[in-house]
Amino acid sequence: MSVELTDLGTAGLELSVSGAVATVTLMRRERRNAMTPSMWHGLAQIPGKLPGEVRVVVVTGDGPSFCAGIDLRMFTPEGVPGEDRGLSAADPGFDAQVAGYQAGFRWLRDPSIVSIAAVRGHAIGAGFQLALACDLRVLAEDAELCMKEPALGLVPDLTGTKPLVDIVGLPRAIELCLTARTVDAQEAGRLGLAERVVPNGELEKTVKELTAQLLRTDVDAARATKALLTRAHERTLDEQAAAERAAQAKLLQARQANQQVQAT
Ligand code: ACO
Repeated sequence: MSVELTDLGTAGLELSVSGAVATVTLMRRERRNAMTPSMWHGLAQIPGKLPGEVRVVVVTGDGPSFCAGIDLRMFTPEGVPGEDRGLSAADPGFDAQVAGYQAGFRWLRDPSIVSIAAVRGHAIGAGFQLALACDLRVLAEDAELCMKEPALGLVPDLTGTKPLVDIVGLPRAIELCLTARTVDAQEAGRLGLAERVVPNGELEKTVKELTAQLLRTDVDAARATKALLTRAHERTLDEQAAAERAAQAKLLQARQANQQVQAT
């Protein structure tokens, strides 16, 4: 499905790049950063705008909430001003439309980057799924996570179900989704949904420190290792061991080739 290029600002997004670090900020503070299809398409365009040297992508929200999920006005007859109402589920293009929305979340797993969700306040529905799309989550103590979709008669369809099950296991994922209950930051930490839980005033500092730690690792080794880890769960031990050997050979060969070029 072809999608019009969206201006990030109009889509409620801000992208800033500083060296190896990009920060994506949801900028609809007055709506608690509620998301629209334009925002999802805007997110999908970001990887195409990132310089190759970017290694860490921080995703965060402006104001007191990370993201309050889909803009609920999408479900009203009036809709959201400036937003296409989208196709009905009976339309043959519906599947491609949702795949287009999901593209805004999928790129955050790319092995060339490490993505970090910096979450303060609410991460509800699509907002929780955005945090789950990131490799790592740093939560302020006031963070609250909720997979609200089933309570609204929907399934979570923005790529959140797989990471949720991978992280918390099937029984807990069923419990969280089908009760749509809110998980506070401390519980999120215990469940593995957060790599760090920090006082509200320390969120930014902690993300900066984590970013600096990540950037200290050799870039090629980091990218190859993330690629290996990402696929580990779908391979047998024999397959993963073979993948480790192949990745090591490729990494070392590339390094040797570079050293030879530099020596000449
Ligand atoms: N869609 C549209 N507007 C929203 C949304 C939303 N998802 N969330 C908040 N807003 C708006 C409110 O309507 C309000 O607007 P107003 O100032 O014009 O009245 C403003 O943001 C601030 O929200 P409050 O409710 O006043 O803020 P509060 O801190 O009390 O509560 C909370 C925040 C808990 C996020 C609450 O707004 C809420 O429950 N929002 C809806 C969450 C939701 O159900 N999202 C859908 C999940 S399912 C999915 O994403 C597919």
